[in-house]
Formats: sequence, structure tokens, C-alpha cells
Amino acid sequence: MTVHYDEKQQTFHLQTNRTSYVIEIAKDGYLTHRYWGERLRRYAGAIPLRYMDRAFSPNPVPADRTFSLDTLPQEYPAYGNTDFRTPAYQIQLDNGSTVTDLRYRGHRIVAGKPKLAGLPATYVENDEEADTLEIELYDELLGLTVTLSYTVFNELDAITRSVRLENRGNRELKLLRAASISVDFADDGYDMVHLAGGWANERNVLRRPLTMGLQAVDSKRGSSSHQHNPFMALVRKGADEDQGEVYGFSLVYSGNFLANVEVDQYRATRVTMGLNPFDFSWLLQPGESFQTPEAVTVYSNEGLGGMSRTYHRLYRTRLARGEFRDKERPVLINNWEATYFDFNADKIESIARKGKELGIELFVLDDGWFGKRDDDNSSLGDWFVHREKLPGGLRDLAERVTGMDMRFGLWVEPEMISVDSDLYRKHPDWCLHVPDRRRSAGRNQLILDYSRDDVCDAIIGMLSEVLSSAPVTYVKWDMNRNMTEIGSALLPPERQRETAHRYMLGLYRVMETLVTAFPHILFESCSGGGGRFDPGILHYMPQTWTSDNTDAVSRLKIQYGTSIVYPASAIGAHVSAVPNHQVHRTTPLEMRGHVAFAGNFGYELDLTAFTEEEDAIVRAQVEYYKEVRPLVQFGDFYRLLSPFEGNETAWMFVSEDRSEAFAAYYKVLAEPNAGYRSIRLKGLDPDADYRIDGLDSPVGGDELMRAGLAVPQELLFGDFRSKVWRIRKV
Ligand code: DGJ
Repeated sequence: MTVHYDEKQQTFHLQTNRTSYVIEIAKDGYLTHRYWGERLRRYAGAIPLRYMDRAFSPNPVPADRTFSLDTLPQEYPAYGNTDFRTPAYQIQLDNGSTVTDLRYRGHRIVAGKPKLAGLPATYVENDEEADTLEIELYDELLGLTVTLSYTVFNELDAITRSVRLENRGNRELKLLRAASISVDFADDGYDMVHLAGGWANERNVLRRPLTMGLQAVDSKRGSSSHQHNPFMALVRKGADEDQGEVYGFSLVYSGNFLANVEVDQYRATRVTMGLNPFDFSWLLQPGESFQTPEAVTVYSNEGLGGMSRTYHRLYRTRLARGEFRDKERPVLINNWEATYFDFNADKIESIARKGKELGIELFVLDDGWFGKRDDDNSSLGDWFVHREKLPGGLRDLAERVTGMDMRFGLWVEPEMISVDSDLYRKHPDWCLHVPDRRRSAGRNQLILDYSRDDVCDAIIGMLSEVLSSAPVTYVKWDMNRNMTEIGSALLPPERQRETAHRYMLGLYRVMETLVTAFPHILFESCSGGGGRFDPGILHYMPQTWTSDNTDAVSRLKIQYGTSIVYPASAIGAHVSAVPNHQVHRTTPLEMRGHVAFAGNFGYELDLTAFTEEEDAIVRAQVEYYKEVRPLVQFGDFYRLLSPFEGNETAWMFVSEDRSEAFAAYYKVLAEPNAGYRSIRLKGLDPDADYRIDGLDSPVGGDELMRAGLAVPQELLFGDFRSKVWRIRKV
């Protein structure tokens, strides 16, 4: 049992293998937060809740001047009844008031983990893996029930939280905010780490000290976004990649989110994470309920690296699903940067054939195969084949590819509609829009209104037809703009601010239906690269196109930043042509391969234009990757040198039993008169000996981790140099 209820103390002690989390039902039934950190054998409450008459912290019970919610650490704080910090939720009543008051009413502890209706979430495969504590809070005046769910994964060492709000009264309620998690830390001795950037520059790792007041990351773009990932961590001062305390917060959601940190007057810190309350409201009629997305928390006392490895294991094995979750992912060749829109069946066949000769396993036909799509100005929504380019249809082309014993994959962008499309001409109200306003375009396209069931059903129908029309075994699901004029033709005025969240619920339903109907298709998500690289989508599609930026040097940062939360099995990484199309940099083919090895490997260039020498390099890369693929896709990941801290990057993958590893080192620019370099490995068995490429005799795991491994001297010279090693236990 991972949840212990102490009736006398009125505490809940949640224990994973390495973490404890303690909640106390305090005076008057308010739910307080007592401890979160390294696992405790038991909780006695040596630090009691402290009560004192504090100036300007009012008292809900006037007779008790020492009691104020403003000074208590809480689990799901309200607004308006004495706490002035950021509330976890806010509800407007039919009389206009926004004051609520939640008290403990009961709880239950269940083995395993109940499903979240309509939303992506982590799961268990058997009930031994986790227990779930559900605490029911109640506002007597309103008949409002708020159920806080805590799932405690013992081995996987994570605690997830979500909230269900139910209107059991007889008044109309309007949710103005409803966070998935709120947690109060006793002090502010932390830095905030988050992942920020933009298109082609996703997930830079940023670290800044907390200061009094608010600090936050969010998205108001209608998707999780290139700009901010739905993740943040509080990192103890002095903690780093390998040691010290880290608290990770990750939201299993793909739309507008907010991660807010508030340091209050006593330098206590409140973290709130969930749906972005900005431009959100949700009408809750009597009898209706609202389920928030899930927040996944991880405590690590082994620095950021420990936190990342916990997220990787959990997301790889208990968030991602389906046939491909535990299968090695195919090496692919994609025609996007090779041809853009300018291709025909013969050109595609020739690229695929060359790929096959070089050992590649999957060909992916990217944008431009449908409607009249010769550039990015038309045809989204017209999911029928472009006969001028592919006169024999999709099946003919797919069979030419599968006939070579290669898999065939297809690009789609099903959430979009071009104004220049048959679909738009027929259904001009099927896009997100508001009355009497212009419909702003992005890449000259509009967004289908997935908050509507009829639109979702139509898309499910169209895609099912396409996917059944040819032997397709991989789909790249793209999404290339953010939301504007967010409104739906079908919702009444008082529900218009539900549109963005209803869109996500519709999207999840469409994805769920299609991945269930086509279990043999490997789905990869994409949003102009990594604009929706989030845990929500990973529940349906086990891998994501990481960035439209395929430059090897940029990718060091992008992939390093992505690895803070996401496993390598989720990271799409391709070798592309030089000069690189996004940053115009020229790097050697060797380094481009070495960087792309650290994810789901592939090529995105015109292989038919390669010289024999280049062919030989590619053939060797594909062969090498296939050998290390199980380590990359299913091993433990260790970051060794950060591209955000200098000219070098290094990382490695270690098999679960520590018998094998794969390490990579990259140097961006040559430095004059540079010193000798070595890297200290991690994650090996200190008592075992390992054989390493290029070294005559075995070396101890302890030596490799404490003294290190020499970077070959020739790498001192020249820009964009790299080296990979295979390391095997003797
Ligand atoms: C954006 C994607 O990220 C690219 O890889 C490519 O598929 C284009 N869209 C196609 O329009």
C-alpha cells in the first residue's frame, strides 16, 4: 500500500519507493500540505502547523485571530475567504459572487488508477503498480464537490494529480479557473527551470532564481506551443544535473496551460499548474462535472538527471501506448526537405529505392500528395490524392514502396482547412471563427473547429478512408498554426470561452478513435516541428517530430532540452542536407548522423543526389544505428556535457542491466591551442569491466565514471567534430 491514512493524526502519507508526500486535514476541515521530498519511514509531524495572529491576514472564524488561510500551506486553495495568494480554482455563482469554501468531506483509497474521462493520462497495467487516493472536498452552500486525485506509482516513483469538480447543487456555476495541482513549499530556496524558445528553436533550458511575487510560463496559443513547454521544475539552490533536490511538474495536456509560481510575503512558494485561466470559463449546470487534465510530479534527489530518467521511464512505459510502445522504431527517409511540393511518383520511388539500398526501413511521403496542393496555399481538408503527381493513386505508390520490402508512411494535417479547398467551399462555418470578424490566416490556412462533434466525425471518416486505401503503416500528423478568433458556430455565447478546451477534447477523441482503429500504424505527431511536443499527444502517438530545425548544431540544444522531460523514443531526429535549410550552416555528414543517433533516426534529403562516398557513410550510419537502437530507444539516458554551458555536448544511453552503453561527444567550434578533453561517463556498473571501441583492453566502470574516457586528440582540430563509442561489459 502506498497511501497510509492516520486517522488520529488526520494525515495521508503517500509513499513511492523514494518519495514521501504528506497531506493533513487541519482545523475546520481545510486540507493542508505537510511534506514532499525524500521518502520518510513514517510521518509524525515534528513541525506542526503554526497559528499566529498576523497583520493583514484575515480570519474566516472571527473569534480565532490566529487562524488564516493566508498563512497555511494548502492542497487546493480557494479565492475570497482569506487566502490572497494564487487560488487553485475560482467559480462564479449565479449571483455573480466568486467566493467558495471547500472543506474535507471524505476520502477513498483504491488500488490502481481510474481512467480520466476523455483526457490523456498515465496508466497502470496492473493494480499493484499504484494506488490512488481520492479526497472529496465540499462546499456546503453550493453543493459543489471537488475530488482531488493522487495516484502514487511505487516503482516508477511519481505522483500524479488531477481534479474533478461536480455541481451537485441546483445553481448554475461557472468555472473561471481549475488547476490540476497546487502545492505550497515552506521556503523559496529554489531556482525555476523551464523549457522555452520558439519555432525552430524549441525547449532551451532556462534556469532563474525565484523572487518574491509571480513568475510563470504559459501558452495562450491554443496548443502547448514552441514557446513554452507544459513543464517546470523547482531546483534547490546548489542542485545540478547529478545531485540535489528537484521537483518536476509536467502537465498531460496539449492546449493552453499555465505553470505559475508565487513567492509570498513569508517567502513560502506556491506552485499552481493546469489549464490556462486566461480566456477560459466553463459552465457547470446542476448535475454536470468537469475533469481537469493530469499533472505528473516527480521528486528527485539526484538532480535534474534523476528527474528526467523518472519521467522517461514513466512516459515511455505508462503514458505512451499501443503496438509500437515497446517496439524498435524504423529508420526512415522523408521526402520533405528533398523535394518539398515538387515531386511525382517516379521521383518518390527513386528516393525510396535508394533508401532501401542503404538499409533504410520506412519511406515517408510528406506534404503535397493531396487535393491540388502544389504549395502551402491550398487543399487542406481535401484528403483525396493529387492525380497529376500520383496518377496511379496512393495505393500504387505505396505498393511500389512496400514491394521493395519497405514500409510506407504518409503525412496529414487533419486539424486544418484551406480557404482554397472544396471542404471550405462546402462548409465555411467548420473553422474556428467569431461572428462579423475577419478570419486571420496562418500559413494561409484556418483551423477546423474540433469542438464540434460533426467536424470531428467527418475528419475521422475522411482519414479512415485514406488510411484504408493503401498499405500505410506510419502517419506523420502535422499542425501548422496557432489559434486566433477562437469561437465556435455551435456554442451559445455563455460557452464561447470553452472553445479552446473543447477543441482539445475533440482532438483527443479523434486521435483515440484513429489510433484504436489502426493499431498497426505508427503515429508520429508534429506541429511545425516541436510546437506540440507534450505528454498529452504522447498518449496517442508515441513519437514526435522534434523541430523543423534539422541543423546538427542547433539540434544539440533542442534535443538536450527536450530530454529534460521526454524519452529518446519520443524524439524524431533526421540527417538533412547542407547547407542546412533552416540556418544555412554546413556540418559534416558524420556529425549530422551522430546527432540524429540520439532519437528515432532518419534522413530527410535527396538520397539520389549522394556520391558513392556519401552512400558508404550513410550505409554505415544506418547499420550502426540499428545496433545501438535498443539502447537509444529503451535505455537510461544520461546527460554528460550541456550545450547550454559551452562548446561541447555529450550524452549517453545505458541498458537497464548496465551491460551495454552508447556514448556520444560533440564539439562545435575549434578552439586555438585547446587542452586535452575527456568525458566522465555515468550510469555504468562500477564493479564491471567494459570493452570500448578503440581501446585495446577493458576498463572498469568505476574508472570510466571517475577518471573518464579520453576524447581522441584529432578532435581538437576542426569545427563540428564528433565521436561515438559503444561500450560493452566484458
Ligand atoms: C511542418 C513540418 O514540421 C515539416 O516537417 C513538414 O512536414 C511541413 N510542415 C510540411 O508542410
